[in-house]
Amino acid sequence: MPSRDQFFPATGMPDPDWWRALWPSPRDVLRKLGIKEGDVVADLCCGDGYFTSALAELTGAETFAVDLDPNQLAAAQSRGIRERITWLLGDAREIDVLMPEPVDVVLMANTFHGVPEPTELSGAVARALVPDGRFIIVNWHARPREETPVLEKPRGPATGLRLSPVALEGLVAPAGFTQEDVIELPPYHYGTVFRKSRDRP
Ligand SMILES: C[S@@+](CC[C@H](N)C(=O)[O-])C[C@H]1O[C@@H](n2cnc3c(N)ncnc32)[C@H](O)[C@@H]1O
Repeated sequence: MPSRDQFFPATGMPDPDWWRALWPSPRDVLRKLGIKEGDVVADLCCGDGYFTSALAELTGAETFAVDLDPNQLAAAQSRGIRERITWLLGDAREIDVLMPEPVDVVLMANTFHGVPEPTELSGAVARALVPDGRFIIVNWHARPREETPVLEKPRGPATGLRLSPVALEGLVAPAGFTQEDVIELPPYHYGTVFRKSRDRP
């Protein structure tokens, strides 16, 4: 069992009732982010797999799902389709070692705000990607928490943890990425597509 201090702060899996209300169609979100048929994707910090089986269905390709919490991974394995999904129990900071092969896309949804060493983690992601692979991050907008209610209660990370797209770029680009796109995911999120720079190994 991983120790408590291995988990990124403020990244517990949300309750399913309001998560479903906020993200009624995970597949539409993935499409908006430019994920397409044939992409080999790693769902980093996959939680209970809310996006994982939609990923495997949409891409029709091999899909990897990583989380540090064995209970979340067990929940993820019991939902949706299981074909083509490889489940990996481990620390996101070691994604470059965990991944059996380089992937086209690493998706990190609703977790980056809690990462204590974001540029180091981005470096590990770069090493897990194919040349010119994409690191796609889904974040809550940097709005006050009380302005982002779902089912009548404020939700999401504390206001002080939230990152704007510009602040996010400042943390990820130094690890060898170029920001390619920022996509609105209403009502409260955005997705950023970072492309691995060609001169990275
Ligand atoms: C807020 S949930 C997001 C789940 C999923 N990405 C989603 O958007 O539905 C964050 C997940 O990150 C996992 N996590 C936290 N720290 C981690 C670490 N160091 N390595 C891998 N997973 C971690 C937690 O166990 C949790 O399942």
